[in-house]
This record gives sequence, structure tokens and C-alpha cells, in this order.
Amino acid sequence: MPLIDAQALTKTYVMGDMTVHALRGVSITINEGDFVAIMGASGSGKSTLMNILGCLDLPTAGQYHLAGEAVQGMAPDQLASIRNRRIGFVFQQFNLLPRTSALENVELPMVYAGIKAPERRERALAALQKVGLGDRAMHTPSELSGGQQQRVAIARALVNNPQLILADEPTGALDTQTSEDIMNLLTDLNRQGMTVVIVTHEADIAAWARRKIVFRDGHILEDVSQHLSVRAEPVEALRQAQGERERAQGERERAQGERERAQGEREGMGAKE
Ligand SMILES: Nc1ncnc2c1ncn2[C@@H]1O[C@H](COP(=O)(O)OP(=O)(O)O)[C@@H](O)[C@H]1O
Ligand SMILES: [Mg+2]
Repeated sequence: MPLIDAQALTKTYVMGDMTVHALRGVSITINEGDFVAIMGASGSGKSTLMNILGCLDLPTAGQYHLAGEAVQGMAPDQLASIRNRRIGFVFQQFNLLPRTSALENVELPMVYAGIKAPERRERALAALQKVGLGDRAMHTPSELSGGQQQRVAIARALVNNPQLILADEPTGALDTQTSEDIMNLLTDLNRQGMTVVIVTHEADIAAWARRKIVFRDGHILEDVSQHLSVRAEPVEALRQAQGERERAQGERERAQGERERAQGEREGMGAKE
């Protein structure tokens, strides 16, 4: 059973006499443990899809099952419950509460989940330690760098132990080095078994994922698996080339040996005559 099973999703916005077809029949299945990057031009429907996958919004038509649960037709409180149990969100603009410590920001989803204060504190601290910010727990967002704020947001996404992390342009507001740190963190979480879906504009960010889905005008244009990440490729290519060279060298040595034996035999025969 796939974790995400979305069939023929459409989303239509009607504004006055204008109708926007944000999704025009999108089907996606994503297995548990996958790492997916969603790309596509601005306005192609990426965020609309993420909002539906994240149970923040319902499709106009189509079916969506998350971990086997039929999401279409759920009431708002059921949607809130499935979100809280299964999904962690990361956004481009971090969406942290200002003037509120990192620790309290990370505790927030557990407040909604009804977890008692001492356990909240303990789990929030553990999540901050996991993202390398154990020593920044009492800092407010304005006292943290962009990358640190995004790590707080990731800690907040993790704290209810979700199966799925949905990140809509998580590196969109960060510089290259900080983006790499964030992608390393998401990759680690994926290695620990979490399913990760990110939206990104940048090819080098998408290259971290195992699968790439490209959107255009509310459709899926392309859905490809990326078995070797861009980072792994050169190493693998070098290894293969090295293997080829060694095989070729071995061949040459065997051929040379053959020639020498044949030569030796001819000489031996010559000596007997
Ligand atoms: N709440 C909304 N009301 C009306 N139109 C919307 C709304 N959200 C998105 N749209 C429209 O739907 C289309 C897809 O938007 P979106 O999913 O945000 O694209 P992307 O994330 O790929 O940039 C766009 O044309 C956008 O203007
Ligand atoms: Mg968007």
C-alpha cells in the first residue's frame, strides 16, 4: 500500500467570473520511504498539490488516500487530526512565531496534539538537538540565522513523529551553503525512513531526491526516478572506468603471456630439430 495514493485530482478556483484550473487531473502514488522533488514553473500547481497532499485543502474532484485513509470527504477536525498524526510541514518562509523561543515554536504541534507540558519540553528539546540546535533552544527567531530558523521549523515538523515531511520550497529563502545543510538534514531524515516530498525551483536541489516530478499547467509533465544522485554519479562513473581499465590491463597481460608461451614453444621445438 503506498503512503500517498492520489487519483485524478482536480482543483478549480472560481473568482468572480474567472475560473482557474490549478490541477487538471493529477495522479500520483508515493511509497513509504521515498524522497520526491516536485518541480515546475510558478503557477503550475505545485503548492496546490502540496496543500491537498498535506490535508490542508480538499480537491475539487478525485480521490486521495493517505496511509490507506480516504481523505476526500473528511470534516475539518478529521483533517486536522490526520495532519497532526502523519505530516510535518516545512515552508519557504519558516512560519515561526516571532518573539517566541525556538523551544516553544517546536512545542506548538504537541500543544495541538494534547501532550502534557513536561513531555512536550523533553521532546521539543530532543528535536532541536536532532537538527543541531540544542544550544539555541531559548533564542527567538530574530536571534537566529535563516538556516537556523529553517532547522527550527524542521524540528517542529518532526516533533510528532510524522511519516511524511512536506516541504514547499524549503531552501527558497536560503543561500547555497545553507541550502545544502538543509538538504543534508532532509536526506538524513529520509535515510531514517521518513518519506520526504519537496517543491523546488532549483535543479541542484531536486538532484538530492530519488524521484523527480515536473508539473506544467496543472498536469504532470514528467515523473522520473533518479537512481544515482548527481553527487553519487561521478564516483560511480570513476569506479566503473577504473574497473574497465583493470579488465583491459588483465586482458593485455593474458594475451602477452599467450604470445610468450607460443614463442617459447616455437623456440623449444626449433632447438629439438
Ligand atoms: N487560493 C487561491 N485562489 C485562487 N487561485 C489560486 C489560489 N491558489 C492558487 N491559485 C492559482 O492556481 C494556480 C496554481 O497555483 P500554485 O499551486 O500556487 O502554483 P505553484 O506553487 O506551482 O507556483 C495559479 O494560477 C494560482 O494563481
Ligand atoms: Mg508554490
